[in-house]
Amino acid sequence: MTTLTVLPSGKTYDIAAGTSLLKALQSVGEPILTKCGGEAKCEKCHIFVTAGRKTLSKIKPAENEKLDGMVGISSNSRLACQALLGEEPVTVELIAA
Ligand code: FES
Repeated sequence: MTTLTVLPSGKTYDIAAGTSLLKALQSVGEPILTKCGGEAKCEKCHIFVTAGRKTLSKIKPAENEKLDGMVGISSNSRLACQALLGEEPVTVELIAA
């Protein structure tokens, strides 16, 4: 179990380690978009990880390729569907609400 803090709402949630950020955000009712259902294909789940980035699962080639081709990414960018929570607290900032 770890703590997920979501901006801009500022709410915190207890989420099981190993859960994707997309599933976690959906389960608590935060406004996260998806068109591809979590396949790293639609880019809609793009978020910024503002704290705890290192505790998330590593970026795999499919996510890396997608991020490379996107506009508006930063070094904190992740696709929520591809990032699995670890044991340490994480803070994410939602972009499209
Ligand atoms: S849900 Fe489509 S890329 Fe993440």
